[in-house]
Amino acid sequence: MLRRDFRLRWRGCTLRLLALCLAAFLCTHLTAELKRRSWLLAGVPVQVQTTFKEPLGEEQSRIVEEVPSRRQVIYVRRSRKGRQADSSVVHRRDTKKIVRWHIDMQPWASYSHSLNDEATRFLRYITTPQISCSHIIRNGITEQLDNTIKPWTLCLDAKFDLSHQIRSKQCRVYSLGLGEEDYVFEANMANGGCEVHRFDPSIRSAHIHEGERLWHHRLSVDWRDPNPAIATHKLQSNTKKLGTIINEFGHWKVDVLKADMESAEWKILENLILEGIVEQIGQLVLEIHLHWPGFEVSGNDSTVVRYWYSLFKELEHKDFKLFYTYKDLTKPQMLLKKDLFNASSSYILSWVNTRWT
Ligand SMILES: *[C@@H]1O[C@H](CO)[C@@H](O)[C@H](O)[C@H]1NC(C)=O
Ligand SMILES: *[C@@H]1O[C@H](CO)[C@@H](O)[C@H](O)[C@H]1NC(C)=O
Repeated sequence: MLRRDFRLRWRGCTLRLLALCLAAFLCTHLTAELKRRSWLLAGVPVQVQTTFKEPLGEEQSRIVEEVPSRRQVIYVRRSRKGRQADSSVVHRRDTKKIVRWHIDMQPWASYSHSLNDEATRFLRYITTPQISCSHIIRNGITEQLDNTIKPWTLCLDAKFDLSHQIRSKQCRVYSLGLGEEDYVFEANMANGGCEVHRFDPSIRSAHIHEGERLWHHRLSVDWRDPNPAIATHKLQSNTKKLGTIINEFGHWKVDVLKADMESAEWKILENLILEGIVEQIGQLVLEIHLHWPGFEVSGNDSTVVRYWYSLFKELEHKDFKLFYTYKDLTKPQMLLKKDLFNASSSYILSWVNTRWT
């Protein structure tokens, strides 16, 4: 009798314990779910690391990106550092930036993951303008096209911000280079009324002010800041991220970013996307290099080309539209050291940020 009573009581206890556990589990789960929803509702862009097991159509992939499943890892980190505002800018965007860790990789171009399919998609993308520009200027505001000079092309259509900025002498140009001796474009932009900052590690002194509006800075733009453990005087040259430079100068916006970074452009572009710096740029003119993957870009050939493509799709999602594309026939006609689809190893591409209209 006693034993049975005890057994019954024991069973009751166990059941109660189980019920309690279940309630606790449901509670945590519900809180987590609510938190996730409130993030999404607050419009906080959530970086979702998606790994696609199978190729998906464009439509499908977008759906996957927008509705993160519970199994996917969500990385969100807010940058604490506030940014100094440029007094001339009226519409300021949210100063709190989300730092992301990975770009969103696009689905493979095909089931076979072949280089041919990746390269076909990528080459079609970089040779197809997405928006037309009727007032194109090459190589700066004041000079006509000279065939010996690279066509650093900008769009001065009135519907984009740049033409107004130039007219009101408020435009700001950043130019990133590596040992670049030709700065006709920069000089022309400065003569046309823009404030121009050239960054190049080969410039002979730390800062040179030339004419009224042209500055040369001996700085190398990188995708990371130098390791703070290395003393500054031991560094070969001064290396900084573009976001750090913009911050230190107190420039909120850069109307034109021109970059010829000899294959460092991929990681630099990735850094600008991940840190949300691209949103501060009005027009982007980039020389891209395709003869090798680029600094710190790894993976087999198809993976590399898919990564390049994914970077440009990130730009597109930020409303950057490609309006000019130039194939450099003076460079080796090679893609990843292969003679493929008549591709060149170098292109110049220009985008306009259509959020700035
Ligand atoms: C390249 O690597 C990726 C990922 O590691 C793999 O899915 C793909 O099949 C590889 N492509 C080729 C052509 O080997
Ligand atoms: C290769 O590209 C050049 C320049 O774009 C073009 O003139 C030529 O016809 C192309 N050749 C082939 C086989 O497509």
